[in-house]
Amino acid sequence: MIRFFDYWSDFVRRHSRSNSHPLFFALLAQLVGTLLAIGLMSAFSLVLFDHLVLFALLQGVCAVLTAMLLRAPIWWLFIHLVFIPCAVLASSMALPAWIWLSAFFLLLLVFWRTDINQVPLYLTNRKSRDALLSLLPETPCRMVDIGCGDGGLLRHLARARPDCVFVGIEHAPLTWAWAWLLARGFSNVSTRRGNFWNHSLAAYDVVYAFLSPAPMAKLGAKAQAEMMPPACLVSNSFAIPEMTAQTVIDVADQRQTRLYIYLNIPQAM
Ligand SMILES: C[S@@+](CC[C@H](N)C(=O)[O-])C[C@H]1O[C@@H](n2cnc3c(N)ncnc32)[C@H](O)[C@@H]1O
Repeated sequence: MIRFFDYWSDFVRRHSRSNSHPLFFALLAQLVGTLLAIGLMSAFSLVLFDHLVLFALLQGVCAVLTAMLLRAPIWWLFIHLVFIPCAVLASSMALPAWIWLSAFFLLLLVFWRTDINQVPLYLTNRKSRDALLSLLPETPCRMVDIGCGDGGLLRHLARARPDCVFVGIEHAPLTWAWAWLLARGFSNVSTRRGNFWNHSLAAYDVVYAFLSPAPMAKLGAKAQAEMMPPACLVSNSFAIPEMTAQTVIDVADQRQTRLYIYLNIPQAM
């Protein structure tokens, strides 16, 4: 038993939180939760299919406990709690299968591989867009939004600064298609479909990122390797670990957005 716990804590220490496969751990928590719930129901001689709702609730709680042991980030706990209960509820609605399949593909086309890159879709708000606008150099410049989402930020900036060039890179197919379509009326906006990790940042005066805590260290290294002074990197909400921002702007919005500005990024040796 002691050896099992040693093995378990070593496994968690090596793989949890920092792991690059959150989906694997989510599946593991769900599977262990399911087995525990089945075990508990058998212990009380309850037939699973006669008590489906009870099973779903029990499975949710067991999956949460397992995810806590795996040190999953807090927002995963809510997903674990409701996943099987929602599946049971949905199956009771007796909707045709194609609806679920279509919903799955729609979500996939919008959120793409959020499970791997850990950067979901949320958009820069109006006040942050204006704050960013005021940060652009007075002379014509080139700006890239890495992970441009629906491209709304680029269009907003392009309208106000027709002298500048705005580039967006987005990998989610539907989100990119939307951004591309709406950018067609702008001569100074281009949106490219692809992975920004494969795109050099060397050609830009301003690099804008609104991502998540997960890729920030890697982004810092990429910026160090590719950006040329006096270019600047602006990160919405997420600081780069072990890099000091020259300026931090507090945007006067409801969510108290902070823009971290990294200037003259020191080149990696
Ligand atoms: C938080 S949203 C920000 C959207 C937009 N930049 C804005 O501020 O309104 C992040 C976007 O980055 C995209 N994304 C995440 N990782 C990416 C990658 N490696 N390459 C391209 N796009 C990526 C996501 O699909 C998502 O649309």
